[in-house]
Amino acid sequence: MNCLSRSFRAVWWALPTLLLGVAVAAEKSAPPLGLPAAPVPADNVMTPEKIVLGKQLYFDGRLSADNKVSCASCHDPAKGFSNGEQFATGVEGKKGGRSAPTVINTAYGTLQFWDGRAKTLEDQALGPIQNPIEMNMTLDAVIKKLNGIEGYKTQFKKVFGTDVTSDGIAKAIAAYERTVISGNAPYDKFKAGDTKALSEAAQRGQKLFFGKAHCSACHAGPNFSDNSFHNVGVGMGKKDFDKGRAEISKLSGDTGAFKTPTLREIAKSGPYFHDGSAKTLEEVVDHYAKGGTPNEWLDEEIFNIKIAPTEKADLVKFLTEGLSSSDYPDHKAPELPK
Ligand code: HEC
Ligand code: HEC
Repeated sequence: MNCLSRSFRAVWWALPTLLLGVAVAAEKSAPPLGLPAAPVPADNVMTPEKIVLGKQLYFDGRLSADNKVSCASCHDPAKGFSNGEQFATGVEGKKGGRSAPTVINTAYGTLQFWDGRAKTLEDQALGPIQNPIEMNMTLDAVIKKLNGIEGYKTQFKKVFGTDVTSDGIAKAIAAYERTVISGNAPYDKFKAGDTKALSEAAQRGQKLFFGKAHCSACHAGPNFSDNSFHNVGVGMGKKDFDKGRAEISKLSGDTGAFKTPTLREIAKSGPYFHDGSAKTLEEVVDHYAKGGTPNEWLDEEIFNIKIAPTEKADLVKFLTEGLSSSDYPDHKAPELPK
């Protein structure tokens, strides 16, 4: 056998492997069942190196003044990427007045925060670092600190071609957050034709969710959010209540309105609502069943839905069983650069 035919043979062998490789790569980057591909801004393309860097920054307490509070302290993978408490606890145990929303599927959000005051994940990321009751750093201080860590300096050079910058920190963290995705839940499998994916009770709950209980009026689309703001009668009736979206939009109609959160992985991210006032999903459903707390800005889609106790249980079953994926993004803290 001469050399030429041998290399021909090699090509024929390599071809299917190559094609297979491409298919595997495509499958990896494809979104999970039930979700479209998450949008990625043109100026922040996702690269493996950038995601690795963003994940380190996300889990690194050194981004805070006391070296103890990281993004993961309040958005912990073990707690549904929230913190399991009513309010967030930042440096020196300081508490804020709103609960920590999940980071899961924020890639699909068109506005960030309960009141939508940040447009993108990149805009959002530098907020908590500088918030005096969260991580309490100035950008100058955090940049100086990270530039003093050799491992970060080299990675920023590789990923962005610069030293550590605030722009790079925001971009890397946002790129990592876009990998915190949950789809392929029993709900999606059922919808795709697997009739055994949901229990009878969860199926009854699903009918209620999209029917009589009216939940899908706002928790709509693949991510169960209309990306809009509503007053669902939470935290109302107090003198100094949180005005929510109205503080940003300056529209009185937005008073007490907050962003519709995703419901994917909702079983893991309690307590619920912007003020963490509902400990359980049963309490959430009770709140909706009675039509929320009456107030002059209450959304017209919120009213007494008149459901029986067994129906409430079915609804909760749909939320917990139906929307919890077996592919939960159970990320572990990575090794941090020295
Ligand atoms: C001390 C707790 C705490 C820390 C630390 C913290 N967050 Fe948050 N995060 C919150 C709270 C509370 C909110 C909601 C605030 C609001 O809406 O006004 C929030 C909101 C968000 C949102 C918006 C989610 C949505 O659905 O609108 C994202 C994304 C986010 N944080 C990411 C991060 C990142 C990235 C870091 C680290 C750089 C971080 N957080 C650090 C408590 C924290
Ligand atoms: C009018 C729109 C609307 C309707 C209808 C609606 N929701 Fe909501 N939902 C929201 C908004 C907005 C929030 C955040 C409210 C707040 O915290 O003040 C929310 C919050 C939640 C939360 C808490 C999520 C979290 O991360 O804290 C759950 C669970 C929930 N809704 C489930 C339901 C169920 C179940 C139904 C049907 C019985 C329903 N929703 C009907 C808009 C709506």
